Amino acid sequence: MRTQVGIIGSGPSGLLLARLLHLQGIETVILEGRSREYVQGRIRAGVIEQGMANLLREARAGERMDREGLVHEGINIAFDGRLERIDFPTHTNGKVVMVYGQTEITYDLMKAHIDEAGGIAQYESPAIRVEDYHTDSPRILYEQNGEQKELLCDFVAGCDGFHGVARQSIPSDQIKTFQRTYPFGWLGMLSDVPPVRDELVYVNHERGFALCSMRSHTRSRYYIQCTMDDKVENWTDDAFWEELCRRLPPEAAADVTRGPRLEMSITPLHSFVAEPLRFGRLFLAGDAGHIVPPTGAKGLNLAASDIYYLFRALLAYYKEERRDLLERYSEAALRRVWKAVRFSWWYTSLLHKFDDDAMNRRLQISELEYLTSSEAGQTVIAENYVGLPYERFE
Ligand code: APR
Ligand code: PHB
Repeated sequence: MRTQVGIIGSGPSGLLLARLLHLQGIETVILEGRSREYVQGRIRAGVIEQGMANLLREARAGERMDREGLVHEGINIAFDGRLERIDFPTHTNGKVVMVYGQTEITYDLMKAHIDEAGGIAQYESPAIRVEDYHTDSPRILYEQNGEQKELLCDFVAGCDGFHGVARQSIPSDQIKTFQRTYPFGWLGMLSDVPPVRDELVYVNHERGFALCSMRSHTRSRYYIQCTMDDKVENWTDDAFWEELCRRLPPEAAADVTRGPRLEMSITPLHSFVAEPLRFGRLFLAGDAGHIVPPTGAKGLNLAASDIYYLFRALLAYYKEERRDLLERYSEAALRRVWKAVRFSWWYTSLLHKFDDDAMNRRLQISELEYLTSSEAGQTVIAENYVGLPYERFE
């Protein structure tokens, strides 16, 4: 089989790239290891920056998001028994975020690209490795129905997430990686109950971090910091609600509506960056190239900004025979990646319990007090949270 751009992975990165290229008449094939139902069923993040929302509109896959997504103009931060609000528009020249689940975005992109436009995506077809990416004709070796096959391409986009094979196809002396593991996880619960507040609540508490998020006016997503070795089996629904309420300011805890879980899972927290993101004709995008802890809601948005740069680079190649943007992809994408990696690390450090050191805790509270009471401090949080601008790339 042969195509123009071979895409490994049918998460948001792979689907968004395929869709944008297809609208420009550039052919792609997506190879995905899992089934379509499995990919669609995964519960992931849910806060979309304006840059990503605009890219979804450019991909003509943003209609339902614009209809059903919730526009949020701020977040709340709770600490020391207080609840402080950070307003986005007043600190960012009018910017806001959209609350809309990654699960819904994946569904919308699959429907637009595969069902409506007839784009090719092969599920249950795991890639094994990428070869010849330093030639003009790279190949993806993959497996389908127990047989080994190959996809010949002009370019390969490694959109196969953190555990994918695209990055692993690079010899270790040609790639540099940076990583940090945080000494805790997030226990997440999805439930069909109204959210406790209209906007997200990020909580610094002496028992550990908590987050009140949502998917809609009737579906809530809550998280509590847990130990690294904790297990979902250790938690009943009641125990989860009890612990969440202990970490919220009393007036918020009193408003929590409890209900049975639709899903409960544990997320480990890592920061990871690979450099570079381009190896000849192989490009890494999204989680394949970098991971952030979920505290700043940046993972999904970084996948979108990578695709913004990669899509424009491929378009310049196919429409204008230009290679310069392909050559600049890694640098441009990584500049934005590092800024979000820094923000996610900082925001995680500010809100989580790392140890029992009383001095560290007082410093966190003092920093939170400073940030929420200073215009400059609120601007730092707001402008990072709504998303730093994409660079012009043309
Ligand atoms: N062959 C084919 N597909 C593969 C392979 C392989 N060898 N390995 C992994 N995949 C698939 C996974 O099954 C998954 O569907 O690649 C896809 C990668 O998708 P995501 O992990 O969702 O990554 P990405 O598309 O980059 O999305 C950005 O950032 O913070 C997160 O929640 C956010 O998942 C989102 C991600
Ligand atoms: C979520 O709704 O799942 C969510 C929201 C904000 C975050 C992380 C996760 O920072």
